[in-house]
Amino acid sequence: MPVGKAIPEVQNDEVRRLASLLEVSKCLTDTIHLRKSLRFALELLGEDDSVDEVFILLDTEDAGRELLTQYPEEPPTLMSRARSLGKIADRVIESGKPVIVPKASLEPMLGGRSRVPAKERSLILVPLILAGKTFGILAMELHYDGERHYERALHFVQVVASLVAQAVRVNQLAEAEKRSLVAENLHLREELKQRYDFSNIIGNSNAMREVYERITQVARADTTVLIRGESGTGKELIAHAIHYNSHRAEKPFVRVSCAALPETLIEAELFGHEKGAFTGAQFQKQGRFELASGGTLFLDEIGELQPSLQVKLLRVLQEREFERVGGTQTVRADVRLIAATNKPLEDAMNEGAFREDLYYRLNVFTVFVPPLRERQSDALLLADHFLEKFSGKHGRNIRRISTPAIDMLSSYHWPGNVRELENTIERAVLVCDGHVIHGHHLPPTLQTAEASDTLTTVDLAQAVAAYEKDLLLDALKSTRGNRAKAARILHTTERIIGYKVSKYGIECSRFR
Ligand SMILES: Nc1ncnc2c1ncn2[C@@H]1O[C@H](COP(=O)(O)OP(=O)(O)OP(=O)(O)O)[C@@H](O)[C@H]1O
Ligand SMILES: [Mg+2]
Repeated sequence: MPVGKAIPEVQNDEVRRLASLLEVSKCLTDTIHLRKSLRFALELLGEDDSVDEVFILLDTEDAGRELLTQYPEEPPTLMSRARSLGKIADRVIESGKPVIVPKASLEPMLGGRSRVPAKERSLILVPLILAGKTFGILAMELHYDGERHYERALHFVQVVASLVAQAVRVNQLAEAEKRSLVAENLHLREELKQRYDFSNIIGNSNAMREVYERITQVARADTTVLIRGESGTGKELIAHAIHYNSHRAEKPFVRVSCAALPETLIEAELFGHEKGAFTGAQFQKQGRFELASGGTLFLDEIGELQPSLQVKLLRVLQEREFERVGGTQTVRADVRLIAATNKPLEDAMNEGAFREDLYYRLNVFTVFVPPLRERQSDALLLADHFLEKFSGKHGRNIRRISTPAIDMLSSYHWPGNVRELENTIERAVLVCDGHVIHGHHLPPTLQTAEASDTLTTVDLAQAVAAYEKDLLLDALKSTRGNRAKAARILHTTERIIGYKVSKYGIECSRFR
């Protein structure tokens, strides 16, 4: 075969070399199982009677030296391979040049053996090079043959080495591509998770879970959605969530408050106007419907929409087109509509203030946002959320809310819903002078558990007692119920602590 005697059978040898190369290159096209195909390639080379061993050593920065594959397969280890090559391997790696050792016994770099071995061997070492960098060695050990044409043999091994290097390269690329596909896949899954993970909406009460369920059901459809709920329950947040979980997410989310502007302005605001449509209309202007093109239009406080505009809106909902104010050209409306109201539209309808046909057009899919008093467990989650938000915003280092303050937050009935809770916590953060929000940082309306809609008057003695209990609980908590230590924190005596503890019915053991 290829590296055997070259003279005088030059012609024959060339043919065999080429045939051999062809076989090797065929093997190496399977880069999915790189190790396996390299081993086949070495096996082909090893079929030559004069070849004792062939192997591939890798030398990489991260993995160090590694025996990638060898023929025959039985086990010389990396150590013995490295030892048998000695410094020659280093030289090939460092120089990136091949080395031929016709008589191993005479080579000083192989340990300069003093005794001629029974079987003289020859070595051919060729660097494996990728992008100008040597990353390994293809090594071949042969019987010594004084008539061998070593240069020609080297040339052959070099061609094989370049095929091997290419195969490794292709394999690396395939691996990199695989890794990037895996990464992309992970990224997409993460994105998907985020889409249905309404992480900016706080609350895991059953009532809120139903809301998430509803959002998930409707987000991907292009259905008109009506969001209902008391003031401050988070309707706008839900409208956002629907938009950002829909396939219109990349397109604009445009909000119009139907209450904020007078009737005439609202029309121009919604549908835009042509130049000169009315005094002051110096330019053509796009309305919110056009601005939201491809995205979502959020009509907030839809219950406040004037009857004349209700008709126009109805037309857009039915025909998906409209004209700008003062214009005749018809504009197509590619928008998804989400409307919100905190008013009972049914009452308005009965009074004739809200059109029945529009009501039915809007009332296709409704999301009811429950008031905060019906999900007290969320109040605490929200309080923590807002505490973190406003501590950060106002640069305060407030770590927690005291137990009595928590009790106050959870027994209050929150007529203003989440918005009221949000304002309450922001105010508490601003007036808090330490690391803990206490009961007295909360507004007077929360000071008694019975706090009601009516204007509350504060009983001084009660408020002071609440504060005192609050301080006591905090001190006992931080000393794990140790009264003597708690007394030191509060600059008082253990006897007084004992007295107050029984006065307020505090169980010290619960702090241990
Ligand atoms: N579940 C929630 N998680 C986090 N923040 C919330 C939540 N619900 C409401 N909020 C916050 O409370 C405030 C009021 O919410 P939003 O403006 O969405 O209420 P709304 O229902 O639209 O009220 P209105 O009917 O008065 O317009 C906002 O600052 C909002 O970010
Ligand atoms: Mg709102």
